[in-house]
Formats: sequence, C-alpha cells, structure tokens
Amino acid sequence: MTFKERVFSGVQPTGNLHLGNYLGAIARFVALQDKFDCIYCVVDMHAITVWQDPTELPPATREVTAAFLASGIDPKKHIVFNQSQVAEHAELAWVFNCVARMGWLNRMTQFKEKAGKDKENASVGLFAYPTLMAADILVYRATHVPVGEDQKQHLELARDIAQKFNNDFDASIKAHGFGEAFFPQPEPLITGPATRIMSLRDGSKKMSKSEPSDYSRINLTDDADTIAQKIRKAKTDPEPLPSEEKGLDPRPEADNLVGIYAALSGVPKAQVLTQFGGAQFSVFKSALVDLAVEKLGPLGGEMKRMVQDPVYIDSVLADGAARAGAIAAETMKAVKDIVGFVRR
Ligand code: TYM
Repeated sequence: MTFKERVFSGVQPTGNLHLGNYLGAIARFVALQDKFDCIYCVVDMHAITVWQDPTELPPATREVTAAFLASGIDPKKHIVFNQSQVAEHAELAWVFNCVARMGWLNRMTQFKEKAGKDKENASVGLFAYPTLMAADILVYRATHVPVGEDQKQHLELARDIAQKFNNDFDASIKAHGFGEAFFPQPEPLITGPATRIMSLRDGSKKMSKSEPSDYSRINLTDDADTIAQKIRKAKTDPEPLPSEEKGLDPRPEADNLVGIYAALSGVPKAQVLTQFGGAQFSVFKSALVDLAVEKLGPLGGEMKRMVQDPVYIDSVLADGAARAGAIAAETMKAVKDIVGFVRR
C-alpha cells in the first residue's frame, strides 16, 4: 500500500523555545519544504496537559508560529496552524484511545518523567498525550515526522496504533473500498548532528524548556550578549578538542558543543573536528559565539518583530486551520464509516 508522502510535525507553545527545538525540529522542518507537502502545527491542546495560564497561552502560540515563519517556513505553500482550531484531532484521538492499550501507554517514559512521583495527581490528558499525538499525525495520514530523539517512543506508539487500527478494522476498511490499509506507518525522521541537544550546564541532561536555570539553554529570543555569555559559561572539560569523532565519546559537553556548531553551520561533526581538533575550548567557544550570533540573532529579531503583529499571525493560523481542517474532515468521515458511526 502506498500513501501520498506528507510531512507532519508539532511544537508545544509552552514558552522558552530553545536551540534544541530549533536545531532538532524547526530548522529541519524548513529543509523538508522543498521535497514534501508539509503541515506544521502549534500543539496547544498538548500544552494544556499540564497547567497553562490562559493569559500566556495565546502569546506563546503566536511565538511558536513566529519562530516557524521567521525560520523560513512558507505558510502559503505549506500549512501552519494551531491544533485546537481543527476539532478532528480530538475526535480521532478518542477513537485511538479505544485502540491503544493501557499497557502501551504505561510504558511511555515521558509520562513517567513529567508526572514525577505524584502520578495520581497527573492529568488524564498527560497520560493520553501520545494518542493525541498519533491523531495529529494520522488525521493527515502523514508519512514522515521530523522530531528530536526524545519523541522517538511516541512515534513508535503512533505506528503501533496505525497498525492496530488497520488490523482491527481490516474487513471494514476493505468493505468501504479503502484498500489494504487505511493509515500509513508514519516514519520518524530523526537525523543529523542535533537530534538531542544537551543542557549547557550538564551534558547528561537534555536542553529543555522546563530546566530552572536559564543558563542551561539558549532561547531563540536571547540577544547577542546573552547568547555569548551562555556559551562562554557552558560547562566543558580541561582537554583540547579531539581531531576525530571517537575522541568525543566519553566527553558529553564537548560532544554537545561540537554538535551545535555542526548543526548551525550545516556540516558534519567530523568536519568541525578537522577544523578545530587540538584547539582549546576558549578558541572554539569564540568561534561558536560568532556562529550562533550570526545564525540566531536575525531569527530572534524577526520573531520579536512578528509577535508585535498578532493580527497577521492569527490570520496565518486561521488560513492554515481552514486548509488543515479540510484534509482532516475527509479522514474523519472515512474513519466514522470504518468504525461504524452513523453520520450525516
Ligand atoms: P516539544 O514541543 O517538546 O518539542 C518540539 C520539538 O523539539 C524537539 N526537541 C529537541 N530536539 C533536540 N534536542 C533537544 N534538547 C530538544 N528538545 C526538544 C522535540 O523532539 C520536538 O520535535 N510531543 C511533541 C509535540 C507534538 C508532535 C506531534 C510532534 C505533538 N504532536 C505530532 C510530532 C508529531 C513535543 O512535546 O515536542
């Protein structure tokens, strides 16, 4: 069974968009535009699985949208919208809640991390988060999903859900003329030197929005001085840089900074080490500051400019939601027939 190739991915509007989100996801979204039809979504319904202040959610949604646009995503050729404007995401998620098994969701490490010790007090939405994510992707029958390494397990679950739906409803899918399988197996695209950017303070922890120390991450809206300061203060070890990649193996902080340099300059890590092998960190960090300021400075500036015009951003989201909604409605109609819901 072949499906039309389509890319889908999402980013949560939970504040502090950082270099990990940019290099692990958004910059790669931009690169995929030439080859695929792409749908990029600000997943506000995922955001509320943990408490969000209703006065902060709209600006956070617009900020992620601004990051997409400022990075170079074309909202006319592709689709940019926020999740809650297309009700079919929630509708399909319900069907998937009835396909996915408790045991599958119980294995999700992100739920365990986010719920922490007080699991009883976590929202039901946080537990069911991955079924909504599967619905996001599959309501467009998307075939390719660019994400960072931390989303790999959720993508595997989405594949399992697609497969189980196809199996459970096999006879009905065929009876309704949808061929051998209704949903594709969405393929994770987790490639390049930046699939897991680590904290600047601790090379064993991933760079994250929720880490209390702001020095652990570079935010996309940081100004040049702040970026420079954070890189200069980034944790390193006393050795000079190795000239080959295997020399980075037991050195997580060095590995991370080299990965960031590679991703920002668009070359493999090996090439960065050919250039900087034997250099002290002071030298390498200066080069990294220059590169980061050159690449991120204009992006942050453009984001700040764009969020001043919420009317424009909201019009992009509304237009994207209308186009996404048309595709999602088609899928949901078919799903209702397949499942056996009487419909108008
Ligand atoms: P979110 O909002 O936490 O992160 C957005 C994207 O950024 C990537 N990312 C990183 N990549 C490299 N290094 C890091 N330190 C780093 N931190 C974050 C994430 O892997 C992600 O690609 N559940 C998703 C959002 C989502 C989604 C979807 C994604 C909802 N539905 C459907 C794909 C398809 C999330 O919380 O991402």
